[in-house]
Amino acid sequence: MQRTNVPVATRDRLLRAARKVMKNAYAPFSSFRVGAAILTAKGKVFVGCNVENSSYGMTNCAERTAIFSAIAKDGPSLEIRAVAVVGAVRGNENDGGVPCTPCGACRQVIYEFGPHAIIFYQGEKGPKQGFITDLLPEGFRLK
Ligand code: THU
Repeated sequence: MQRTNVPVATRDRLLRAARKVMKNAYAPFSSFRVGAAILTAKGKVFVGCNVENSSYGMTNCAERTAIFSAIAKDGPSLEIRAVAVVGAVRGNENDGGVPCTPCGACRQVIYEFGPHAIIFYQGEKGPKQGFITDLLPEGFRLK
């Protein structure tokens, strides 16, 4: 299985971008702000935050916001190399961050455009990284 890795400086750049955009989150219902940054095969970075809704199920996660923004900007040939995700409870955006891994729905969307992508996130015991195929074994794909 081919897998992507990225230099530490790139990882840190993605985490910084995710932390910055997290502050734009619209999260009045959960008070949980999330920021995500994706690195594309063309070397571009796109960011997204969570956008909640009074009708809770309409909420869009930070990861999907970033991915959909990338496609809106550059078209459907998106290839995701890496994703960074950070989360924080409102008012604590400047601390080290709380555990936040991509939700199941976002894992499937990341897999669609980045089956070899590496994901950087905060685990229960600190920073973690893993390939999307570890986070989502046997992701669905239409052949
Ligand atoms: N959320 C994300 O944006 N990304 C994740 O990977 C996990 C959850 C958001 C959705 C909702 O606005 C809030 O976090 C609490 O679930």
